[in-house]
Formats: sequence, structure tokens, C-alpha cells
Amino acid sequence: MKITKPLNLGLVALAGLAFACGGGEKSSETTSTPEPVAAAPAPAQEISLEDKYKDDPIYIKGLEKIKGSDCMSCHMVERKIVGPSYADVAAKYESTDENITKLATKVIEGGVGVWGEVPMTPHPGLSLDDAKDMVAYVLLLKK
Ligand code: HEC
Repeated sequence: MKITKPLNLGLVALAGLAFACGGGEKSSETTSTPEPVAAAPAPAQEISLEDKYKDDPIYIKGLEKIKGSDCMSCHMVERKIVGPSYADVAAKYESTDENITKLATKVIEGGVGVWGEVPMTPHPGLSLDDAKDMVAYVLLLKK
């Protein structure tokens, strides 16, 4: 008891000091609690496609395979880099078995001309099944 009280007083004094140092400009806001300083980026108004689909088994399986390949060096989910964004690809094609097979074949063989003059490199080491899982993930990413 004899120890805690002076300690508390000391803390109050310290807090007062800190306040005195920081004060000055905002005298009208003296009672407001301090805002957390840029703790985390504010949640976007729209939820990201990653968040929207992250629990879908197609998403999980496809992303895992995509991470094991080089797709990410040319594709991002919502931004065009070398290749179109996955969201743009998803907006263009319905997620049918036919489209998935067609696009998976293109991923394996490479190709150019649908999105521009930059070619996608071939991926001959991919099995059709793996490529289809990747494409199913891509076509899931609809807004
Ligand atoms: C060297 C860069 C590069 C890499 C690596 C790459 N892509 Fe692409 N991708 C492209 C480009 C460029 C296009 C656009 C091709 C076109 O215009 O026809 C494209 C197009 C696509 C398309 C749409 C095809 C169409 O006809 O609409 C899909 C799906 C795709 N990529 C998936 C993948 C996957 C999955 C991987 C990983 C296995 C991958 N890409 C790796 C550059 C790349």
C-alpha cells in the first residue's frame, strides 16, 4: 500500500508530463482519447477478392498450385502486370468445364493475342489436372 500509492502518483505525473509535451496545437481536443496511430491499413470499403473466396476449396487448392509455379511473377489478382489480372480473366470467361480445359491447355502451351501482344510462356511441366485446378481458381475470382 505504501508503495503503490506514490507509484500511481508518479504515473499520473508522467502522463501529465507527456501530455504537456504533446499539447499545444490541439487545445480543443484535450479530452479525446488518442487515436491509434496507423495501426493497420484501414479495411477497404470493398472486401478483396482474396477475402471473398479464401475459404473456398477451389481457391485453396488452386492457389497452392499457383504458388508452386511461376504464375505470380506475371499475374496478380486485381492488378494487371505482365499478364491480365485474374479478376479480368474471371470476368471474361464463365467457369465452365470447357473454358477451364481450354485455358488450362493455353497455360501449358503458352499463347498470345487475347489480351495483347505479350505472350504467356508455356508451362510444359504442368499436368492438365494441375493447370485446370489453377484455372478453376482464376475463374472463381469474380467480383
Ligand atoms: C511470363 C509471364 C507469364 C507467366 C509466368 C504466366 N502467365 Fe498467364 N498470361 C500471361 C500473359 C501475357 C497473358 C495474356 C496472353 C494473351 O494475350 O493471349 C496470360 C494469360 C493467362 C490466362 C488467360 C488466357 C486467355 O486466353 O484469356 C490465364 C488463365 C493465365 N494466364 C494463367 C496463368 C497461370 C495459371 C500461370 C502459372 C502456371 C501463368 N498464367 C503464368 C503471362 C504469364
